[in-house]
Amino acid sequence: MNVLLAGGAGYIGTHTCVELIEAGHTVVIADNYSNSCPEAVKRVEEITGATIPLYEADVCDREAVEKIFSENKIDAVIHFAGLKAVGESVAKPLLYYRNNIDSTLTLLETMEKFGVNNFIFSSSATVYGTPKEVPLVETMPTGTPTNPYGWTKLMMEQILSDTAHARPEMSIVILRYFNPIGAHKSGRIGEDPNGIPNNLMPFITQVAAGRLPKLGVFGDDYPTHDGTGVRDYIHVVDLAKGHVKAIDYAGEHKGVEIVNLGTGTGYSVLDIVKAFEKVNHITIPYEIKPRRAGDIAECFANAEKAARVLGWKAEKNLEDMCYDSWNWQSHNVNGYK
Ligand code: NAD
Ligand code: UFG
Repeated sequence: MNVLLAGGAGYIGTHTCVELIEAGHTVVIADNYSNSCPEAVKRVEEITGATIPLYEADVCDREAVEKIFSENKIDAVIHFAGLKAVGESVAKPLLYYRNNIDSTLTLLETMEKFGVNNFIFSSSATVYGTPKEVPLVETMPTGTPTNPYGWTKLMMEQILSDTAHARPEMSIVILRYFNPIGAHKSGRIGEDPNGIPNNLMPFITQVAAGRLPKLGVFGDDYPTHDGTGVRDYIHVVDLAKGHVKAIDYAGEHKGVEIVNLGTGTGYSVLDIVKAFEKVNHITIPYEIKPRRAGDIAECFANAEKAARVLGWKAEKNLEDMCYDSWNWQSHNVNGYK
């Protein structure tokens, strides 16, 4: 298929691009570089040997999106183009609602106009809210997000379900990601956050690289095996392969499916620190800090539906994730800059 990757220059988009091309698909990327840069796409071209049609475009801009659809025969859209910083979404809710929801509506409306029916959406485990029990199963009721970012994901899931019901010719796959970390084995593409990282792994790799003095561990009094927060970390290449499976699935089915992309295993913050230290022979200085507002104790997936419906299962382990995260950061101390 020829797949439009909205937000394809970003962390998950670039890795998905590599896996789609390696699986024999072709891609077109649209990105406004609000959290990425064209260099990332150049590196995908270097890894794959492919030439990628690349549009600098805001996917909320209808004219720009229609131009892409008129210049390319698009078979499917993967929508990564979202703002994702939880704290920023609290400070700038309208920016988040405008960008994340408008981009989804504009893509869906343009798809309808051009008769494109396959849509894959980047949702998040955040839609489960504070879990009553783990592992999280797709049939569990969604929760109450603690921030506007989470609300945009929940609202977009609703918009997509309503759209699929109204347009039975459509195939929509909503992927609820757990915590992607790691990088492509080449070390040429990886996560490159703006400013001080909010997320655990980029914080650790920046401490390892000497860009930050030490890690703050947010809370050691959670009801978990060592008191620190537990998450389902998934290698970004496994996550990217999940999108290839979702594209194949969408080509053969109609309707809407919601699927968790996680490993099914939870690791604590200190498990990650220890694994990173062991694999990479680097000490990560850290101090215990108070809990971070809005954090939950434990979050990990039941990954059975992805195996059953998409034929997908994560293959990489925690050591691979720690090794590849550092391989990327150590060869690109300042990211793509
Ligand atoms: P990212 O910021 O690296 O990638 C998003 C890309 O979209 C960036 O390149 C950005 O420039 C672009 N973009 C944003 N708004 C745009 C717009 N209006 N028009 C065009 N381009 C636009 O983030 P990521 O980690 O690759 O995440 C991709 C998607 O997955 C996001 O929707 C995010 O919310 C979701 N997600 C990410 C995580 C995670 O931990 N990384 C977890 C759950 C869900
Ligand atoms: N943590 C620290 N120190 C840090 C950063 C994180 O101790 O400097 C801890 C957190 O408290 C948490 C764990 O590491 O226990 C993971 O935190 P992340 O910020 O990496 O990830 P979250 O699970 O909090 O958030 C991620 C995505 C969100 C998404 C959420 C639920 O970043 O976008 O998963 O899907 F909403």
